[in-house]
Amino acid sequence: MERRTVLLSVLLLIGLAGLSAAIAIGVIRSRPDTPDPSDNGDKEYDSELCHPLLIAHRGASGYVPEHTLGAYALAASMGSDYLEPDVVMTKDGHIIARHDNELGLTTNVADHPEFASRYRTQMVDGRQVSGWFTEDFTLAEIKTLRAIERIPDIRPGNTRMDGAFDVPTMQEIIDLTKGLEISLKRPIGIYPEIKHSTHFQRLGLAMERPLVDLLHRNGYTRPESLIYIQSFEVSNLKELKSMTDLRLIQLFAGNSALPPFDQAVQETGLTYAQMATPDGLREIATYAYAVGPDKGYIIPRNANQTLGTPTSFVKDAHAAGLKVHPYTFRSENVYLPAEFRSADPSQAALGDAAGEYRAFLATGIDGLFTDHPDDFANVRGSCA
Ligand SMILES: *[C@@H]1O[C@H](CO)[C@@H](O)[C@H](O)[C@H]1NC(C)=O
Repeated sequence: MERRTVLLSVLLLIGLAGLSAAIAIGVIRSRPDTPDPSDNGDKEYDSELCHPLLIAHRGASGYVPEHTLGAYALAASMGSDYLEPDVVMTKDGHIIARHDNELGLTTNVADHPEFASRYRTQMVDGRQVSGWFTEDFTLAEIKTLRAIERIPDIRPGNTRMDGAFDVPTMQEIIDLTKGLEISLKRPIGIYPEIKHSTHFQRLGLAMERPLVDLLHRNGYTRPESLIYIQSFEVSNLKELKSMTDLRLIQLFAGNSALPPFDQAVQETGLTYAQMATPDGLREIATYAYAVGPDKGYIIPRNANQTLGTPTSFVKDAHAAGLKVHPYTFRSENVYLPAEFRSADPSQAALGDAAGEYRAFLATGIDGLFTDHPDDFANVRGSCA
C-alpha cells in the first residue's frame, strides 16, 4: 500500500514532466528523422533502447486509468521504451486512444445526460456490444468526457484519478512523447494498435491511412523510427506494408482456435493457431517485423494455473526472422501464475511479478507488454 502512496507522488511529477513536454514540443514538433548515413539496410532496430523492450501496455495502466496522458507519462518516467496506445476513430475522423470503441467502460459518458440517446447495441468484431461508441461522437464531444478506471475492483487506487484526465488524441500522445524524450533525455517510442480495423473500414472510417499519414507528418517515416503498428487482423497489416516503411507487428489472440476477424469475414479459414506454426510465422515475416502473442503461446499454463513447459514459439518466430513481444504482464495475484501469487487475499494484492518475468526472459523474448512498467524495469536492471 505504501507503494501506491509513492506512486501518487510520482503522479505529481507527471505534471512537471507534462510542463517540460509542452515546452519541448514547441522546439521539436515536426522534426523529421535525420537520415543515418551509416544505414546500410541491415540496421539493428531499437539499438538505442534497453533490451528486452519494455512496452507500457495502455501506459502505466496498473497505476493510472489506461490510455490517458497521465498513464503514458508515468510509464515513460518508469523507464518504458515504448508507450502503447490502442487507437479508434471518432465520427469526424480523429484518431484517439481507447482500447474499445465502446466508451462506457473507461469514461464517464454514462453521467452525461446529453449523450443518453446515443446508447445502443451493435455487433463489433462478431460480438454484440451495448454502450456508447466512438464512431457516434465527434472529437469535441469526446473531449467533454473524463477517463475512469476500467477495473476498479482490482485497481481501487486508480479510481482516485477518475476524472483527472481526458481521452487523448494520437497527436497529443506524439507531442507528449517527444517532450518526454527531451525531459528524460532518452529516446521513447510509440506502439499504436489499430483496434476493430474491419469494423471501422465498414463505417468508412478506416484508420490505416490516417494513422500512417499522422505518423509520417510527425517525422516517423523509416523502419528504424521508434514506432510499431500492431493489429490482430491480417489484411490491414498487408495493406500497411505497402503504405509505409514503419515496422508492423502481427498480434495473436489468446484463443488460438479463433480466426482474425478480417479472415472470418473473408472466410479464409485461417486461425491464429495456424499462424503460430513455423509456416504461418514465415508467412507473417513477409509483411511484419515482429509478432505479439498472448504470453500463453510461449509458456502455456497448467490446469492448476502454474506455468507449464515453454513451447517452440520463440525459436520458430526467430527462425522466421521475427521479433517476439508477448502480452500482457500484470503484477496482481489474479493475473499471475499460481506459483507467483502472494498469500494476501485482497483482489488488489500484488504478487511476485519478478518470478514470471524471469521465466519469460529465459525463453529469449525480445520485449513484452506490461501494465506495471516499474516491476519489469526492476527485473531488467540498468541498461547502462
Ligand atoms: C500443477 O500442475 C503441474 C502439471 O500437472 C504439476 O507438475 C504441479 O506439481 C502442479 N502444482 C501444484 C502446486 O499443484
